[in-house]
Amino acid sequence: MSEENSHVSVKPSESVSREAGKRVERKPGRKGEPAFHLTEQMRRLSTPWGVALARAGQIDPGSLGPGIILDAAVGSGLQLIAYSNILKRPSLGVEVDGNVAVLCAANMFSAAGKDDIQRSMDRVVIGDSTDSVGVMNEFWSSLRESGTRAHPPVAMLHLDPARPRDAQKHHIDEMEPPIESVLSSWKQYLELGPRGPCIILDLSPRLDIGQRSMIDETVERLFPGCGRTWEWLSRGGGRVDRLSLWIGSLSSNEARRCIRMGTKKIMASIEGDGGEVRAISLVDPPPFESWITIVDPVVLESGLQDEWISKAIPDGALYRIPISKDGTLSKPELILKNLYFANGFYIDEKRNKLYLSEMMKNRVLSFDIDIITGSVSNQTTLAVIPTPDNMELDSEGNLWISSPLANQIFSVDPENGETYVVFDAQTQIGLENMEEAIRRMELGNGFAELLTSELTGEMPGLLTGLIIGDESQPFYVANLGTALIKVSKE
Ligand SMILES: C[S@@+](CC[C@H](N)C(=O)[O-])C[C@H]1O[C@@H](n2cnc3c(N)ncnc32)[C@H](O)[C@@H]1O
Repeated sequence: MSEENSHVSVKPSESVSREAGKRVERKPGRKGEPAFHLTEQMRRLSTPWGVALARAGQIDPGSLGPGIILDAAVGSGLQLIAYSNILKRPSLGVEVDGNVAVLCAANMFSAAGKDDIQRSMDRVVIGDSTDSVGVMNEFWSSLRESGTRAHPPVAMLHLDPARPRDAQKHHIDEMEPPIESVLSSWKQYLELGPRGPCIILDLSPRLDIGQRSMIDETVERLFPGCGRTWEWLSRGGGRVDRLSLWIGSLSSNEARRCIRMGTKKIMASIEGDGGEVRAISLVDPPPFESWITIVDPVVLESGLQDEWISKAIPDGALYRIPISKDGTLSKPELILKNLYFANGFYIDEKRNKLYLSEMMKNRVLSFDIDIITGSVSNQTTLAVIPTPDNMELDSEGNLWISSPLANQIFSVDPENGETYVVFDAQTQIGLENMEEAIRRMELGNGFAELLTSELTGEMPGLLTGLIIGDESQPFYVANLGTALIKVSKE
């Protein structure tokens, strides 16, 4: 239980900001970051601003229940500020060090938009965050004193405990504040999202597997059956920069994720169950066609190397099944491999060309083909169009290609690649969907979950198939839903 008056609130305000300015000048902690009040120690412990923003951007606001965002070891406040700016929630920071708490409140004040109404509920409570009752009583009473009668619960808990410098040689209980004490104390105030509580533990990247399983065990004991996703994050400097555990409604469906950040944005993300990493030493040169590559350490630390390989080396292929004169089929022959989702193709016998849609690369390839042997050569990119699918040659020798995400049919001149839209059924929602899908494909990710029923129902929606006759005849377009459209040429 809490002792009376053991916690004190600081409301982010002009006067706190002035006071902070007397203690520490406001300036960027790192190059390119906004200016904050940070002592040297705070700067060292603070989450880099780009990482804080990217992390906040990973959270689906729909996964949070009602209430505030709590940072139970708020320090400079950078992570909490990023959350509350992006998720538009009031925020509460708890900090045991009074001087740090004042500087944090000043940082919250300077980062708030002047019209952000929820900012009036922001507070930093000076005190011990393992005493949730004391913190919440102080928080609510401070809101009452400012004329707010609400008693908001906690929608999300973030915890970045201070750790001993040599994390591997220390027990996880030596983190300050201790993880288990904070989680068990705050459990009663945590609102549930659709898949349980919303918690992020921001931990030392140097935790070993034994320490991680101790944390898994603690979380499982306190929140049985809740999802957990471990995330390894790298900023490309050749080491793991952050290790965090995303719990309950903030977990994904996978046990592990590795992330490579650029200066501001997440450049690549891989998820999966992960597996064992085996080191082998090569005495002889590797066999012919082996791959040697330098990978970011998060790939191996997270155990997601198999998932990475399946992304890095495309596995789409084109096979040919030779038919002998008596009509019997022979074994399939591999014609092309390493394709990013081989989709529709067309053999142009007049030009001795093979055209092929490489759907996840948003391009149409062209090859020379020997019709008799099936061998192909001279790959070129004929056209760049979103998600090319089925294709057919029209009576004038132009290649018509359907694009489910563009919701268009394109006509491409195989002689020079000139491309026109011949049928357009795109909608605003379809366009937004396509832009998001292209962004995901560029990161090497899929987009299957974007294909919702509102895109695939009646026309328009995800044009995939086409049947074209001669110049005077109508053509037909099929979608992934239930529509077949007849288009007359007038
Ligand atoms: C690693 S830092 C947090 C850094 C923060 N994420 C940031 O971006 O600046 C941990 C903070 O927890 C504070 N702390 C340690 N024990 C605490 C406790 N029992 N209650 C509240 N805060 C505590 C420390 O003073 C320190 O400022």
